[in-house]
Amino acid sequence: MEPSRYPHLLAPLQQGRLRLRNRLVHASMTTRMAKEARVSQSLVDYHENRAKGGAGLIVTEPLSMARHQRLPHKVRAWNDDDVAGLTRWAEAVERHDCRLLGQLQDPGRGRHERGRNPSGIAPSALPDDLSWSVPRALEVDEIRRMVDEFADSARRLERCGFAGVEISAGHGHLFHQFLSPWSNRRDDEYGGDFERRLRLLRDLVAALRAVCGACFVVGLKLPGDDGVPQGIGPERAADIARALCEGDRVDYVCFTWGSHGRTLDWHLPDMHWPRSPFVNLTAELRRSIPHVPVMTVGLITDPAEAEGILAQGKADLVALGRPLVTDPAWLAKAASGREREIRYCVSCNTCWGTIVEHRPLACDNNPRVGAADEADWKPAPAARRKRVVVVGGGVAGLEAAWVAAARGHDVTLFSASAELGGKTRLHARLPGGESLSSVYDYQQVMAKLSGVHLELGVHATVDDVRSCTPDAVLLASGSAPGWPASLPESWREEGLVPDVRTLALDLLDRRQRQPGTAVLLDQDHTEGTYAMIEVLARLFERVVVATPRERIAGDVPLVTALGIHRRLAPLPVEVRPFHELSAESRLEDGVAALANVYTGKLALVEDVALIGYSTPRVPDLRLLAPLRVLGLRVETIGDCRMPRGVAAATAEGYATAIAL
Ligand SMILES: Cc1cc2nc3c(=O)[nH]c(=O)nc-3n(C[C@H](O)[C@H](O)[C@H](O)COP(=O)(O)O)c2cc1C
Repeated sequence: MEPSRYPHLLAPLQQGRLRLRNRLVHASMTTRMAKEARVSQSLVDYHENRAKGGAGLIVTEPLSMARHQRLPHKVRAWNDDDVAGLTRWAEAVERHDCRLLGQLQDPGRGRHERGRNPSGIAPSALPDDLSWSVPRALEVDEIRRMVDEFADSARRLERCGFAGVEISAGHGHLFHQFLSPWSNRRDDEYGGDFERRLRLLRDLVAALRAVCGACFVVGLKLPGDDGVPQGIGPERAADIARALCEGDRVDYVCFTWGSHGRTLDWHLPDMHWPRSPFVNLTAELRRSIPHVPVMTVGLITDPAEAEGILAQGKADLVALGRPLVTDPAWLAKAASGREREIRYCVSCNTCWGTIVEHRPLACDNNPRVGAADEADWKPAPAARRKRVVVVGGGVAGLEAAWVAAARGHDVTLFSASAELGGKTRLHARLPGGESLSSVYDYQQVMAKLSGVHLELGVHATVDDVRSCTPDAVLLASGSAPGWPASLPESWREEGLVPDVRTLALDLLDRRQRQPGTAVLLDQDHTEGTYAMIEVLARLFERVVVATPRERIAGDVPLVTALGIHRRLAPLPVEVRPFHELSAESRLEDGVAALANVYTGKLALVEDVALIGYSTPRVPDLRLLAPLRVLGLRVETIGDCRMPRGVAAATAEGYATAIAL
């Protein structure tokens, strides 16, 4: 047998109470899969699949473990109501030789939704840095009661078969708020100096040790650097870790990043960040606690990266959050040399966007999150083999094509472009977009393995489709930015004002800066537009972004928006809210007129070298009616059904192929 390429990743860890079959941990992820505060089947399936797929340790999402925690999307562990569910959950994971830890957490004053937090609690009545919610400062009696309740719940988890708990004391949540002098201004036994700020966590760990068994695992997620002035930087983080890990009460430490403020996006660095951005800092912090296993987390997506981190002794365990949402069998595939069959996380943060909108986890590159047979899934054969034509080689068409072919259908895919991937391929060429290629790269591999017949560089005509005598046609012909309603149609015909995609194709390879201002109408508010604005800022002296809304980046998750603002801030980019492009613009004189959407008042931008637009997309349905006239069964999928994002496109492609 060939030696494994991942000897360090696959090596067991037996240290103290930790007994793990390998070094891969599934980091805690809020799934929004619990139902009415109970364990749901999809929650069990989600975790069992990650255990089946190879993880050696899984940390659940935060459970309600103190009596004030009553949210319906969090599983309640502070009473016996769902002991059966908790037991089923633990058994499903532990039967795959994977340890299950419940996460013990409270958001405290933190809130990242709109509005103020009606139930925020904190060490001190100071505003949350994002929502400005002012919490209620906890009284000493309440703190003591809460610690007892947490311990009581942990004992219950242990009885139900959980191997332990992870205390989430990073991310700017309640325990972090107690640790940080920025948020803890108490002057009693729980605040006032370094030691007293640690008291809550010390008490909690002691209470857990007092009531739980000798083998019960207690892990700590601790701040490594929260990026908050007067908060917890690496030096203070090392002191905290050292102090809390004295003796042998703590079984591992996972350092996390960012806080609940402008560094919220550090929690889950997106595709604009360098890879594994926190590993070196983790390695430094690890020196402060040499006797405790340290877990590293954050934008580690590739098994070779994980192996390298462990081989270089930078951490003892590698935790993956989003990459195991995307592919539960990440480790199993790597261990068996099937790396190219891994669906890689593209770090887009769609998953975070869905849970904060109170929907179950969803993923751009995994249309089956939470399915019962998710890990290493292969499509089941169809009852009857059909001839299927897919028109369009974007991510919706490709997903439909490979799944249909893998089910045994005879599939032909027409792609107007010689390269597959559609507009996602273009986005992948923009700053920070590179990892998006993993979506269509995987689909291409699967299309090849499942025998899709590819007609590349062919603008499919009705005759092309008809000649295949299809039983079903899947139209995945995409969409294009619509012409701005405020501009004359004649400008469109003359090609005077290009859309954002045309701009990208024209400018992406250009390196030379040019004088003048680029003006872009932003009625899109999604990621690709801002990546293109970065390109414009690199090439032009100034970029003016006009949007009819009150701000930009309104349709991306908050964490993505924070990154967009941070990247645009140092660039010569001016945002003009409440404005749209006006027909009063004098293109020949280099003057763009921006009209206030409420008053109509014009603001002139002079010395304009380029005007472009990024607007809501219009479906391309040119083939639909002519194909239907022939009596063919035609279904639209992806943007040509309704323009949306990548997650919707892959999900629709998958679902349509399954229903064939
Ligand atoms: C959708 C989503 C939900 C998360 N929920 C939690 C959570 O409930 N508790 C927690 O400690 N961390 C949570 N995290 C943070 C992850 O545990 C992890 O630290 C982070 O995603 C970085 O790791 P990754 O790059 O491997 O995804 C969440 C992250 C995401 C993307």
